[in-house]
Amino acid sequence: MRLGVMCSGNGSNFENIHHACPKHDIVIMVYNKKKAKAKRRADRLDIPSCYSKDEDEIIALFNAYEVDMIVMAGWMRIITPKLINAFPQRIINLHPSLLPKYKGLHAVEQAINNGEEFTGCSVHYVNEELDGGEVIMQSEVPILPEDTIKSLTKAIQRKEYAILPAAIEHVKQRLSLEIS
Ligand code: GAR
Repeated sequence: MRLGVMCSGNGSNFENIHHACPKHDIVIMVYNKKKAKAKRRADRLDIPSCYSKDEDEIIALFNAYEVDMIVMAGWMRIITPKLINAFPQRIINLHPSLLPKYKGLHAVEQAINNGEEFTGCSVHYVNEELDGGEVIMQSEVPILPEDTIKSLTKAIQRKEYAILPAAIEHVKQRLSLEIS
């Protein structure tokens, strides 16, 4: 499997995929914030990376690197049908809530403010509805009375490190069944 990863910030999930999925190669990481820490991680891990905000350029890059699947791991920008349709059913996104709850921004904060007892994280296929594609995998996280946005985000991320590699493996199985 040749993976393309898209990041906007820290890139801890990107690095985790690299370590947790030794059978899959991250062949290119695209980032859309010049100061993204993900870029430093890519350099350290010797993974090619490219700064871009332009979808035509991103599509061309993924094609040039012959990616089989694209993982949005902390990509904080809505992508358009142009990119989605270039890789149908091959783009997945990680989101810090139990979708369909709390789509979009500030998902962790919203779960706390609404007095939820549980939240979590989801990996889903990307379609034209924001955070609305078919869910592939989810994991629950309890919200403790003493939780802050920071502590809960950390707890959710620990679960993300487990479900994102598992979801990648799941999509890989589906793709290889389609090919054979
Ligand atoms: C992750 O927690 C992910 O759920 C969230 O960004 C974080 C990226 O962390 N994604 C979204 O909010 C997408 N709407 P990382 O850069 O350390 O992997």
